[in-house]
Amino acid sequence: MSLFITLEGPDGSGKTTQLKLLSEALSAEGCNVLTLREPGGTPIGDQIREVVHALHNRDMSARAECLLYGAARAQLVEQMIKPQLARGGIVLCDRYADSTLAYQSYGRGLDRAEVKQIIAFATQNLKPDLTFYLDIDVAEGINRRRRGGGEWNRMDDQTLEFHRRVRDGYLEMIAAEPQRWIVIDGTQSVEEIQARIRTEVKKRLGNRATS
Ligand code: TYD
Repeated sequence: MSLFITLEGPDGSGKTTQLKLLSEALSAEGCNVLTLREPGGTPIGDQIREVVHALHNRDMSARAECLLYGAARAQLVEQMIKPQLARGGIVLCDRYADSTLAYQSYGRGLDRAEVKQIIAFATQNLKPDLTFYLDIDVAEGINRRRRGGGEWNRMDDQTLEFHRRVRDGYLEMIAAEPQRWIVIDGTQSVEEIQARIRTEVKKRLGNRATS
């Protein structure tokens, strides 16, 4: 009954709030849930997160950035995600490999095929069963981020143009693999978004239990 679910979306789309609510609801129903975030989720990954997000690291090359996100993910897959799925548990992850394709390839302009190879290597080809995309206007996302007062990192600091390319990238990825993605209008209320997420997760869990 293992299930690997990821959440993607522009910065400030509310992914983190939704993941927390989903995690609490599934745990209350007695499911074995592991909730993770990228980059990070392991002690090594958290150290990489500091380097890759530090505002003073302005000189970081796009390739170095891509490999650092990949390195954090390789550690997360091996140390946390694979063992949890092997135990038959549920993994919820705030961002995963799709973020690298969206930000480092569509956003930064790194070659698509090369980035896909790096992703495959880092993840040992492990793909999510289900991915939610919380869709909001990128400018609105950035504004929410500023108002929210949380971490303001090197990626938030990119131009609006960059964030638009990222969103267009996501939309292309969704169109290429529609069976894995569920797109949700991120301007709805927290409760409405959560209800939709829960319905979709229940469907998947129901299918697994009976298969
Ligand atoms: P984070 O503070 O976790 O914010 P968010 O709530 O937006 O997820 O920051 C993650 C940032 O790192 C976000 O701007 C996207 C970026 N990122 C990449 O560029 N590539 C990646 O592979 C990942 C995982 C994240």
